[in-house]
Amino acid sequence: MAILVTGGAGFIGSHTVVQLLENNQEVIIVDNFYNSSADVLDKIRTIANKDFKFYEYDITCKEQMDEVFRDNDIEAIIHFAGYKAVGESVEKPLMYYSNNLVSTFVLCEMMEKYGCKRFVFSSSATVYGKPASVPIKEDFPLSTTNPYGTTKLMTERILTDIQFAHPDWSIALLRYFNPIGAHKSGLIGENPKDIPNNLMPYILKVASGELECLNVFGDDYDTHDGTGVRDYIHVVDLARGHVLAINKVMNSSGVHIYNLGTGKGYSVLDIVNNFERATGIKIKYKITDRRPGDIDECYADTAKAKEELGFVAEADIDEMCKDGWNFVMHNK
Ligand code: UFG
Repeated sequence: MAILVTGGAGFIGSHTVVQLLENNQEVIIVDNFYNSSADVLDKIRTIANKDFKFYEYDITCKEQMDEVFRDNDIEAIIHFAGYKAVGESVEKPLMYYSNNLVSTFVLCEMMEKYGCKRFVFSSSATVYGKPASVPIKEDFPLSTTNPYGTTKLMTERILTDIQFAHPDWSIALLRYFNPIGAHKSGLIGENPKDIPNNLMPYILKVASGELECLNVFGDDYDTHDGTGVRDYIHVVDLARGHVLAINKVMNSSGVHIYNLGTGKGYSVLDIVNNFERATGIKIKYKITDRRPGDIDECYADTAKAKEELGFVAEADIDEMCKDGWNFVMHNK
């Protein structure tokens, strides 16, 4: 019995596959390398010292996915694959809706056809929109501000409806906060192909000299220093959340919704300062206008994940900065 991991060569996917293999799970990866590269597969094998089956297929292609399900005994799916750039989703909404929703439809059709009943979905704290207060609990109202976020919210609703029609199915919706850091080995991490949109990948490129200066998007937010506050979580912790979620869906039915964060908020300038302290590298920055759609503060209430999954994020911000930088140093 295998676990199918879509987007297993990506940032969060690769770290999760390592831990599944280390736990002796049989893993099948499907990835089309849209936002990842083939060399990650060998790095996963090196770290875990185990092998897995791989298909360079597109999960929106029904024929290809039918072959994967026909040829393997798939017990559960962890679905990471998807487009994830907020700004691009505003410019190309059709591309985002089409890819991120069709992939869910195809996977669920295959689940129905082949009797697979367990699904873990890569959702996002973006589904909370502009929260009325922090920390954010799982039962807070949901809304979105861009097509990317809407695809996450729509997928959550589609999966919830499908589970209602199949009461013996078990679905976990994991709402990630801001994953950063990298595996201790320095072999796998986040490697954006273009100029990064997210804070930590941008800082890493400034630190390595590839980019000149960090633009801090606004210093007039309602936060302790005026810059935006987020809940940064080490990707290795986040990956462990998926292993726990797989255990949960294997042993229950229903829809299970969890925040995966640390419960602590750090501002943009806190991150810059912590990065400088952890690595000894100065980060040149300047304050610019706010980025449209950004919110003041976003951090998780972590109680439900702790109580029901036994999940507690362990790495602190220093470790996240060091491990992120270590990955860059290994991949120069
Ligand atoms: N920021 C900068 N400069 C940059 C990049 C970011 O100042 O160059 C600031 C942002 O304004 C924000 C903070 O750093 O205050 C974090 O921004 P990120 O882009 O790293 O992350 P977001 O919180 O905006 O979004 C991330 C993911 C989304 C996900 C969301 C969930 O990119 O996919 O977390 O909370 F939906």
